[in-house]
Amino acid sequence: MKSILPTGNYPEALEIIKNLFTFPREKMELMIRDFQEEMHKGLAGTESQFKMIPTYMPLPTGNEKGYSLAIDMGGTNLRVMIVKLSGKQATPEIILSSKRELSRREMDTDAQTLFAVIAREIQKLLLQLELLNRKNNNIGSIEEVGFTFSYPVKMVNRNSGIIVALSKELAAKDLLGQDPFVLLFQALTALPVQTQLYPLSALKAAALLNDTVTELIYGAYLKNNEDSDYQCRIGGIIGTGYNFALLLDTNAILKFKEAEYPSRQMIVNIEAGNFDAASLPKTIFDQWVDQKSLKPGFYRLEKMVAGNYLGRITAWILKELIQTDNLFNANSDIIEKINNFTCVHMSLLEANYPGNQEKARELLKELGISPVMDEELSIIHEITTLVSTRAAYIAAASVAAIVLFIDPKLEQKHTIALDGSVFGKYPGYKAKMLVTLHQLLGNKAEQIKLEYISDGSGIGAAIAAKC
Ligand code: BGC
Repeated sequence: MKSILPTGNYPEALEIIKNLFTFPREKMELMIRDFQEEMHKGLAGTESQFKMIPTYMPLPTGNEKGYSLAIDMGGTNLRVMIVKLSGKQATPEIILSSKRELSRREMDTDAQTLFAVIAREIQKLLLQLELLNRKNNNIGSIEEVGFTFSYPVKMVNRNSGIIVALSKELAAKDLLGQDPFVLLFQALTALPVQTQLYPLSALKAAALLNDTVTELIYGAYLKNNEDSDYQCRIGGIIGTGYNFALLLDTNAILKFKEAEYPSRQMIVNIEAGNFDAASLPKTIFDQWVDQKSLKPGFYRLEKMVAGNYLGRITAWILKELIQTDNLFNANSDIIEKINNFTCVHMSLLEANYPGNQEKARELLKELGISPVMDEELSIIHEITTLVSTRAAYIAAASVAAIVLFIDPKLEQKHTIALDGSVFGKYPGYKAKMLVTLHQLLGNKAEQIKLEYISDGSGIGAAIAAKC
């Protein structure tokens, strides 16, 4: 591949990269237009980049009551929890929970391997609950299961659906076309030891959900609780993956024709990561990330903003700088090591540089990149900042597109419930999103609150199971 960077001239190379990574306001406005057009097409059922999936879920009332089991299978972690809801919008109580990272092998081998892991975690938690109950003896029965499965699933009704695509580089292809709840119950039945007090056979599939949907449900539950005029009708995840869900009047979902759905409103999962348009500020580096991904041409927006990909974009730029003798004296040994650079490294680096240079050096040393001169550290920091800042700008433009879709003149106040490691932990990310919203919307941006609400995928699923 021919390089676009000059040899041995970092200032000039940086100028070129900076230009590539700008996202001027006019282009953002075009992106908003294109994004909304895809939303309209998706709702109408015509061909669209957005699946706009009807979820059969309304917002919670706040009167949900009882114990439920919530499962959250995201892009990185698996969480299982028992949640108690007491009605009257009382704060949900997590009675027990477990969290573990899923290895690539567990996620990528096949459906059976993945769901066996989930089933075992559920069994472990129910065994713990039995022990707890022996002491307290006051925990009610556990029947309803709310399952957050954070991949594209076309819903058939509120508790079943078909996996229609694999995002976030998930490789277990036999998941396609299957129903996550069916896979889960098969795996539970196959467990050699069954629990007694809380029998696995008592569990019922109550709600199957996307993580953006549970985030919205939990956000709305909390907002109902507050004396606030900032309504929550949009939920999003900016973490390993990227996506949003929004609440719409059912009759605005033109393709949804089922008369039995009882509520006037329904949450729709956009599957927003799959956006692509000329207005999206793609660079040659994004092209390389896409080409090396499991599904080239798919989820282009997600590949520019989500944690799974930010490290890869940065790594491509740094490698290119090394190869053109603009960094590390063209030392090719470092190129291999740069491949292990992730969004977590970027985030920690930005948190520690320039304040704590030693910590920043340690991080690079862990990757085998050492010694690192002051100037080199500064270059790496400059590049991570460009990549993460552009990501925040693009994420903000997509938030603007979704808010304006439901409230074109911004006459109401909106809380956007957001979770995900990038939004929640990346230094300065939220602030940059807010600046962009102000640039785009002026003072009207005050009508939008971006609120970090963690645990939505777990607690939201527990609430949904009782809706
Ligand atoms: C998935 C979405 C999910 C998002 C955030 C994307 O890769 O396709 O369903 O909501 O990641 O986890």
